[in-house]
Amino acid sequence: MFSAGDAYQRFMGRWSRALAPLLVKFAGVRDGDAVIDVGSGTGALTAAVVAVAPSSRVIGIDPAATFVAFAQARHPVDRVRFEVGDAQQLRFLNASFDRTLSILVLNFVQDPAKALDEMIRVTQAGGTVAAAVWDYGQGMEMLRVFWDEATALTPAIDARDERHMPLSRKGELAALWREHGLQDVVEEPLTIQTRFVSFDDYWSPFLEKQGPAGEYVASLRAGERDQLRLRLRRRLLGDGPDRPITLDARAWGVRGIVPRPVTAPGLTA
Ligand SMILES: C[S@@+](CC[C@H](N)C(=O)[O-])C[C@H]1O[C@@H](n2cnc3c(N)ncnc32)[C@H](O)[C@@H]1O
Repeated sequence: MFSAGDAYQRFMGRWSRALAPLLVKFAGVRDGDAVIDVGSGTGALTAAVVAVAPSSRVIGIDPAATFVAFAQARHPVDRVRFEVGDAQQLRFLNASFDRTLSILVLNFVQDPAKALDEMIRVTQAGGTVAAAVWDYGQGMEMLRVFWDEATALTPAIDARDERHMPLSRKGELAALWREHGLQDVVEEPLTIQTRFVSFDDYWSPFLEKQGPAGEYVASLRAGERDQLRLRLRRRLLGDGPDRPITLDARAWGVRGIVPRPVTAPGLTA
């Protein structure tokens, strides 16, 4: 039997697994760091942390209990724990972690500013807070192609197009990081390639009801779904035979350092 975790893996997890090592490198994770993966989903980012930091303690939190169970089953070791939680209200003490990371999450959180405050609070002074969000408007071609064709077919659904996602445009994450007092803020494009073995490998994950695109496909009648599928096939393959398809997927990655408390002259910290 397939779980929600399996469906997520087929739709997005396979791509977040490819993106995660880029964020781990960008965030400068070192073995021994205490790390929290905020919005851990099925565990792609935690797996990438464990690969470069095998003795690190890693905690993943996510509100979806099915994802938490899926991720924990794949990391049956004490050092790696997943639990149900909300980025906007973390249960951890101040300064509990050296690196606080989050991938493909902040655009889905109701109050990302509150989430970032919490991410900073649980990170120790001098530690790193880093995140990545797909560039839905331009750089994430798998979804860009989908929404271009869906809105061309039905212009009234433009509001559902993920290009409207918060924090997905160049500079938005960096601005948020600076507003919240993080230092040495750097934003960079993190780009992977999404490779599909066939058109069906591109299309069938949209039938899994995952994310805004999957929910949109599930809302269509059979005839409308077919029209969209044909448009997408023509867009990606022209009138030619089926073949592998490679698309770029760019996310914006941001990192910043939690400032050390300022001490008045003459006082020691
Ligand atoms: C696109 S998935 C990314 C999951 C995982 N980080 C990955 O890259 O595979 C978005 C995740 O954000 C989680 N999420 C949504 N709201 C959240 C919140 N308030 N706090 C923490 N995670 C949240 C969802 O449950 C989901 O697992």
